[in-house]
Amino acid sequence: MNNLWGDSLSGFWSGWIIVITLGTIAFCWWILFANRKTDKVPDAEGNVDTTGHQADGIEEYDNPLPRWWFMLFVGTIIFSLGYLALYPGLGNYAGLLGWTQENQWDKEVARAEERYAPIFAKYNDIPVPELAQDAEAMQVGERIYLNNCAVCHGSNAQGGYGFPNLTDDAWLYGGTPEAIKTTLTNGRNGLMPAWQQLGETNINNVANYVLALSGADHDAEAAAKGQPIFAASCVACHGPEGKGNQALGAPDLTDDIWLYRQPGQPLLEAVLQTLRNGRNGHMPAQAPYIGEDKVHLVAAYVYSLSN
Ligand code: HEC
Ligand code: HEC
Repeated sequence: MNNLWGDSLSGFWSGWIIVITLGTIAFCWWILFANRKTDKVPDAEGNVDTTGHQADGIEEYDNPLPRWWFMLFVGTIIFSLGYLALYPGLGNYAGLLGWTQENQWDKEVARAEERYAPIFAKYNDIPVPELAQDAEAMQVGERIYLNNCAVCHGSNAQGGYGFPNLTDDAWLYGGTPEAIKTTLTNGRNGLMPAWQQLGETNINNVANYVLALSGADHDAEAAAKGQPIFAASCVACHGPEGKGNQALGAPDLTDDIWLYRQPGQPLLEAVLQTLRNGRNGHMPAQAPYIGEDKVHLVAAYVYSLSN
């Protein structure tokens, strides 16, 4: 049984809850019967018990509870005992039915899958570019996107710090239908090593060279010194012209689109931070969560955003 404390209560707390719960129910039972009045009203002499309260000459009778009312209380207690026997409620006791939130959830998901699977499957044979033109399919795709992707890429899919914009033409891993599907199916792991070992001066020089590549304001002298460092240490991944490599997810450094730049942060600062600390963007594989059919649909949705 899951609860706020983790997977299960310690034996003591479980016992504590069981004792309190059953004790409270027993107490209610006791109150109900201890106070029960069965005397006939009025009695043989025609007298009626009163509670002794009176106001303006009106006396409060001390009649027994109506029978139906009494039975309602008894029924409530029996119901609660039956419920606690069948369902979890008493500490760690799982209940005779074995009901859990998880298996209830799983059942509902399975039911939903059964209902919607044919809808998703219907789109499965349509190629991504064609599907991207289908307004109805794209509505479904947008739903899938909002439920599964918006947390990271934003509800407008324009990304944010460390999360790529999916609406532009700049791709870390490629914007073809195949590349997008591979990204979604398997996930991606971008690895940019840290460059502490170059030393601060060299880091500063190569950072200025990166700024020069994208046509940003830079220190030309530093950039000139950074060029050979770039050639030695960076081209393996970012390519000889700094245009990136989609097989590695190494971004194009010439396009003035920055994955790791906080809003308002000076570009040099952002690049220096990347070089000092390295980066490791992680896109989790989606197929295990949403299945191949939905991957196909949401891939078409992503494709439609930039095409
Ligand atoms: C936990 C956060 C997270 C979730 C959820 C997530 N992504 Fe991503 N996604 C990322 C990150 C981070 C990257 C960049 C990986 C990198 O830096 O190498 C990325 C990369 C991508 C890319 C590659 C972009 C490019 O330029 O090549 C695509 C496409 C993408 N995500 C689409 C999606 C879709 C569609 C979903 C939902 C089905 C989704 N992502 C869910 C974090 C996420
Ligand atoms: C092993 C391959 C590799 C090498 C070598 C490498 N990079 Fe990277 N670089 C990457 C990858 C992959 C990313 C994207 C990281 C991510 O997605 O989290 C990246 C990201 C960056 C970024 C961030 C871009 C942005 O949009 O914010 C900069 C700047 C950068 N690299 C510059 C350099 C420089 C300068 C060097 C040489 C000193 C270098 N890289 C060497 C793979 C590499």
